[in-house]
Amino acid sequence: MMIEEWLKWAKKQIAALDAELIALAVFTPKEADRSWLATHDVVKITTKMQEKADEMVQKRASGVPLAYILGEKEFYGRRFEVNSDVLIPRPETETLIDLICELPLPKQPSFLEIGTGSGCIAVTLALEYPQSYVLATDVSVKALDVAYQNDIIHEGRVEFIQSNLLREVQPDEGHFDVLVANLPYVDPAWEWLDQKSLSHEPSRALYVKQDGGLALYHRLFKELRLRQGRGGFGVDYVVVEADPCQHAALIQMAERQGLIALKTQGFGITFERRQRYQAWQRMRKLVDVETRLAEANNQDNNH
Ligand SMILES: C[S@@+](CC[C@H](N)C(=O)[O-])C[C@H]1O[C@@H](n2cnc3c(N)ncnc32)[C@H](O)[C@@H]1O
Repeated sequence: MMIEEWLKWAKKQIAALDAELIALAVFTPKEADRSWLATHDVVKITTKMQEKADEMVQKRASGVPLAYILGEKEFYGRRFEVNSDVLIPRPETETLIDLICELPLPKQPSFLEIGTGSGCIAVTLALEYPQSYVLATDVSVKALDVAYQNDIIHEGRVEFIQSNLLREVQPDEGHFDVLVANLPYVDPAWEWLDQKSLSHEPSRALYVKQDGGLALYHRLFKELRLRQGRGGFGVDYVVVEADPCQHAALIQMAERQGLIALKTQGFGITFERRQRYQAWQRMRKLVDVETRLAEANNQDNNH
């Protein structure tokens, strides 16, 4: 059978793009892109290849996400391996990286990620900030295996620990410039929720029943407040993801635990530790006063 014929059949079973991506994965050299298919449509495929591709089409037709079938997903322009032990990285999560990149961080920043899943956030930060230190955690050992694998595929700079939120993060880890988390926040009671479309992903990575889906963030913010300062560790910024319909509640919740919201964008929110934020505000006021005094002095001297 020719690729063209197979594609014609596959596109009747599943979305055209999915059929092409399966064809690319099974019939073409590794570095080929979709343009390869257009120019090689009369290439013959072996029976073994066809069986493999047919099986993938069947899985896709039964609702299995394409990322699980292909075993990979792109995040921030890089490929990450995925399997059904981890959430498939979402485009909206890329906003967290954008929000972090806007922060005034030192040359060698330190990052703590809670709930790393495939490792897409932690590994991306290690690559975007080559001089950084990145510690990533997850409660799931199976997820940590995937994250570790992705770290090895990329540069292998991230440190991983299994931890329930901050429990195993040791005080001697010291200071983190940014704590980033995309914790489960989907409330199964949402009327608009299409649970079927999420049924192949681990429910531990998605659903939280209490506090309108925000119970884990509530616990995280509380633990963070208790761990700040002496005998704990400091965090300057906290960047998290939640559904925009939860942002107002999440901001209130964070404020009660000493965090000030600086910015929301898409699904992401950036917070700054209140004491640090206030110290900066006082500093800015002082600089303003000093600038105005200097200007007044200059004017006096000129007269
Ligand atoms: C929404 S997924 C995010 C995965 C990945 N960071 C991403 O953005 O694609 C949430 C992750 O948090 C982990 N998780 C759930 N409860 C946790 C807890 N109590 N402590 C640490 N991690 C937790 C899940 O295992 C899952 O990998």
